[in-house]
Amino acid sequence: MAIIHHQYLQSVSASVGRITSAHSQVIWVTDTNTLQHCWPLLHNSNSTTLVITLPAGEENKNWETCEKLFSFLIENKADRNSALIALGGGMITDLVGFCASVYKRGIAAYYYPTSLLGMVDASVGGKTGIDFRGLKNIIGTFQEPKEVHILPDFLNTLPQQEVLSGLAEMMKHQLIAPTSDSFWEMLKLGTIEVNDLKPFIANTIAFKESVVEEDPEEEDYRKVLNTGHTVGHAIESWFLEQEKPIPHGYALAVGLFCEAYIGWRVGYGKPEFVKELKVIIETIYPKLIIPKTALETICNLALNDKKNSNTEIKAILPADYGVFIWDQVITKVHIEEALSIYNKHFNSH
Ligand SMILES: NC(=O)c1ccc[n+]([C@@H]2O[C@H](COP(=O)([O-])OP(=O)(O)OC[C@H]3O[C@@H](n4cnc5c(N)ncnc54)[C@H](O)[C@@H]3O)[C@@H](O)[C@H]2O)c1
Ligand SMILES: [Zn+2]
Repeated sequence: MAIIHHQYLQSVSASVGRITSAHSQVIWVTDTNTLQHCWPLLHNSNSTTLVITLPAGEENKNWETCEKLFSFLIENKADRNSALIALGGGMITDLVGFCASVYKRGIAAYYYPTSLLGMVDASVGGKTGIDFRGLKNIIGTFQEPKEVHILPDFLNTLPQQEVLSGLAEMMKHQLIAPTSDSFWEMLKLGTIEVNDLKPFIANTIAFKESVVEEDPEEEDYRKVLNTGHTVGHAIESWFLEQEKPIPHGYALAVGLFCEAYIGWRVGYGKPEFVKELKVIIETIYPKLIIPKTALETICNLALNDKKNSNTEIKAILPADYGVFIWDQVITKVHIEEALSIYNKHFNSH
């Protein structure tokens, strides 16, 4: 799979015009929020463009929503030379990418990601997918979109909790491959404005592109992108099971701290690094309420992670900025201890 490189929009109308003239038909796909907030940045109200608006939210990243899209394509006689254009966050780009990859055995997809997570993470690497029977991304394909266009102005209407959700992935990238001290200096100030994050978007994308290019099939090195996710996913799943879903990035931020703590605990990480990360995360993110009685369940959720055998957990632990402990075996005891430290020592605000 050849990787495509993102384009940074100078002229919106030029990119839209070029895509439109390259296909028999283009179908724009938005969700209810991006129709309201992002569509007007690209189109004026008397445009005759074909657009379908899908319900927003992860709970709609499912087969039923795909059926709506497929039906719309058939009703509008979309042929093999037509194209889908996703205008939305990761939920929309994942679903549109998936539908495009299977409709008529594959038609072109273009992404205009509108959320921070969509820009720096979901639109890079060619993974498409939908959720099914409560299992995230269980049905999907590997297919790169034809082009991805980044327009940071979309972020001006993104709710703050979605900004923070995307920021956790940027933090992960900067931990793995630090490109600038000013990123961490900015975070230490604690007041996160989306405009301050915009200059780091291109770097973050380029970093993920380089990892995917090196290991497109996720055989080895791409696993580095799972940093913070062993514990993070377990926390996220626990909240989901309680029917109190939290943004992915909130769980990832705690996961990054816990895994850095475990890195120190197994004898490699630097204590100053763990402390610094703690202060940054506790200042930026709201404290998650994780009852003591949930710790065991969260550990089991991490243990059941598909990447691990039943008796041990292997993770890639951050030890310092740009320094990693690769495939470190960690135990339930480590995770429970890290979460207890989080519970005890993080301040709420
Ligand atoms: N393919 C991949 O490699 C990959 C990687 C990471 C995440 N993902 C997927 O991405 C999804 C999460 O992405 P997300 O956080 O963008 O979720 P999302 O698409 O659900 O967007 C979050 C919320 O923000 C709203 N929104 C988006 N852009 C907006 C804007 N500019 N202004 C106002 N509101 C806006 C959306 O309508 C939604 O309510 C998950 O489904 C996850 O599985 C995929
Ligand atoms: Zn993630």
